[in-house]
Amino acid sequence: MPNATLTDRLLIAVDRRLPRRPLSKLPPGSRLRPVQGTIGLPIVGHTGAVIAAMVGEPMVVMRHRYDTYGPVSWAHMFGRRMIFVLGPDACESVLQNRDRAFANGPGWAYWIGPFFPRGLMLLDFDEHLHHRRIMQQAFTHERLEGYLEVMNPAIARGVDAFRPGPHFSVLASMKQLTLDLATEVFVGARLGPEAAALNRAFIDTVRAGLAFVRFDVPGGKWSRGLRGRRVLEAFFRDRLSEKRASSGNDLFGALCRARSEDGHSFSDTDIINHMIFLLMAAHDTTTITMTSMCYFLAKHPEWQRRARDESLALGKAQVEFADLERLPALDLVMKESMRLVAPVPYLGRMTVADTEVCGHFVPKDTMTAVVPYFSHRMPELWPDPDRFDPERFAPHRREDKVHAFAWAPFGGGVHKCIGLHFAGLQVKAILHQVLLRYRWSVAVDYETRFDFTTLPVPKDGLPVRLERR
Ligand code: HEM
Repeated sequence: MPNATLTDRLLIAVDRRLPRRPLSKLPPGSRLRPVQGTIGLPIVGHTGAVIAAMVGEPMVVMRHRYDTYGPVSWAHMFGRRMIFVLGPDACESVLQNRDRAFANGPGWAYWIGPFFPRGLMLLDFDEHLHHRRIMQQAFTHERLEGYLEVMNPAIARGVDAFRPGPHFSVLASMKQLTLDLATEVFVGARLGPEAAALNRAFIDTVRAGLAFVRFDVPGGKWSRGLRGRRVLEAFFRDRLSEKRASSGNDLFGALCRARSEDGHSFSDTDIINHMIFLLMAAHDTTTITMTSMCYFLAKHPEWQRRARDESLALGKAQVEFADLERLPALDLVMKESMRLVAPVPYLGRMTVADTEVCGHFVPKDTMTAVVPYFSHRMPELWPDPDRFDPERFAPHRREDKVHAFAWAPFGGGVHKCIGLHFAGLQVKAILHQVLLRYRWSVAVDYETRFDFTTLPVPKDGLPVRLERR
């Protein structure tokens, strides 16, 4: 468990002094237990407290909740009651959602709804399944091979443009690289001067969900997000008919041509909504994964050497699809990095019916935060959980097998990440080329701190000493 900061200790001390209350009354005759929690401070509840903990490391406060209230607890946040779902059994129960009581649309809408309406992750039940079946056709083995073909030369250009030096910012460089790749692999265009405006629109749209002022004040994040969304919509709409007629190896074209087994396809509006959501779903997540991998590879040079040796042994400047299995060290490092720094630490849900989680009664209309990241750090599941030890995923150990939801960076159930193989492909294709061209290091005592307020990013951008090999 990471060390408790002063803020953590303060928050826990305050929470311990507040009277415990049940989330709601139990239905008559129910044998379930009520969810327990505290109301928090007047008006703001736990909002400031939880945000303060997330600016540091949320694990300490989550551990307090788990030890005090069990796998399901409530807090008063953002003007309403919200439950936290912790530990693999509780996460499994919500994500498997056998009684269809937890919905994604209303769960995520508060955070990203106005900017990503009708993205796949925000659809529910039969409609979600219908769209997922069509979208699956854009993620087949054959399609992934096609994306890799487009990706490889674009990666080479991006990685060649790195400027080695003693303070190379890994976060900024990986962000730029994934953004450039997205225009080629997702949109299928090497954009000219319009690239900068499109990138701006995309960044504004993604960032808007995190605005504190959550309405349309001119010049504010929210308003810039709405404008960004309109720019993206216009961009994709202008290119739709041309794209429908194309046969290129890009995701936009693949969505235009995708047909489910029963012959259904997407409307123009569906394609625009899905494309904008996909850009967002892929961008920060892969950037964070590569950044944390670079961090651990810098802190553990023996793993950097091992990964580089495997890349050299391939004898190819760029990986082909079949080569991905021949880079086992990168695979282990990717899994372990995503365990220690889960790119999506929280998943949003809302109950649309009364339900039960691990013996606790959860009423309809309860905002829910599922926290798979907490399971990643539980000493009950992982030996020495805070230690970077990629071998724990190796066939002779497979510590993740302790529970189906011990390691769940891609979620689980029907909404499990549709892009997980795409992500593996992109991350490994990029790091293979980076390892062949460069070596990087940090001072022995250097520790970066991740800011979890939104998705986890190193506060200092992760400056490393980057040298050409
Ligand atoms: C390391 C990178 C990635 C991580 C950690 C990640 C994580 C996740 C997680 C946790 C979910 C589940 C959300 C929920 O249950 O509410 C999800 C869903 C999704 N992801 Fe990813 N993702 C990654 C990369 C990608 C990429 C590259 C794409 C597309 C190319 C993508 C597209 C999607 C989509 C469309 C969904 C919604 C699936 C559904 O609702 O059926 N993701 N992702």
